[in-house]
Amino acid sequence: MKHLLKMLDLTSNDITNLLNLADQLKYENKHNITHHYLKGKTLGMIFQKSSTRTRVSFETGMYQLGGYALFLSSNDLQIGRGEPVEDTARVLSRYLDGIMIRTFEQKEVETLAEYGSIPIINGLTDFCHPCQVLADLLTVREYKGRLDGLKMCYIGDGNNMANSLIVGGLKTGMKVAVACPENYQPDQQVLDFANPTGKFELLTDPLQAAAGADVIFTDVWASMGQEGEAAERRKVFEGIYQVNDKILEAANEGCMVQHCLPAHRGEEITAEVFEAHAKEIFDEAENRLHAQKAVMATLMKD
Ligand code: CP
Ligand code: NVA
Repeated sequence: MKHLLKMLDLTSNDITNLLNLADQLKYENKHNITHHYLKGKTLGMIFQKSSTRTRVSFETGMYQLGGYALFLSSNDLQIGRGEPVEDTARVLSRYLDGIMIRTFEQKEVETLAEYGSIPIINGLTDFCHPCQVLADLLTVREYKGRLDGLKMCYIGDGNNMANSLIVGGLKTGMKVAVACPENYQPDQQVLDFANPTGKFELLTDPLQAAAGADVIFTDVWASMGQEGEAAERRKVFEGIYQVNDKILEAANEGCMVQHCLPAHRGEEITAEVFEAHAKEIFDEAENRLHAQKAVMATLMKD
């Protein structure tokens, strides 16, 4: 593993190794065992979109690993004034030991990796959110003791979260059922990977997708950058693509609920379901820290 650009690039073994290391780092963190695997290393964090969890968990994680993280808002970088990403990659590679980037186009992340000479970590693009999904898999494994053979359900927009969950779930042996409106389906590249596995169902009916599920995921109806489409999307999703009590009745007993956050109560999830599953959801948020430390240690350690 040289970079973390998308879940499609990882082998099942890569994922298992990352989750195992994350478990170890979480244990050490809880027991105040110092783990300065990245002593003296620096991570640049480029943000072209807002963030609470990604920024704070990467910055704190880097500090806990003995390194240093620089917050680089694209508003203040020359990249925001049109300096090519190819040049930014080659310059930053001379100063830093790794880059985490949150941006719009997946191509920008891939170009950084192509032109730079240091590990690149995708902190969310319109196409995918691999760091989040590693934390999600870590959380499900913690609660259920395994991933293989479980059924994952995703209800909502076929967005970056859907794309990464489908690939992450299937690569770890889960069955995956997704319910999205017809014109809001996951990316074709993801469907081309998922369909031949025989363990994937793409549906429009959330109740059908939730039947027998062990974990249900959802995400916002309009992602960052889609604010202008929010009203139109609401008309399509409202009253149908919501994780509520009826959905959980269709699922297996003890079904988990996960949400990458931020959550819009009353839209993709009811306030009641959110609060009933708050412990799982905030454990998921905490696991961003442990999963990303595993990613950084794997990619950036000497
Ligand atoms: N889930 C997630 O990536 O949160 P932020 O947008 O706050 O980083
Ligand atoms: N799909 C959401 C995820 C936020 C973490 C977005 O891209 O805005």
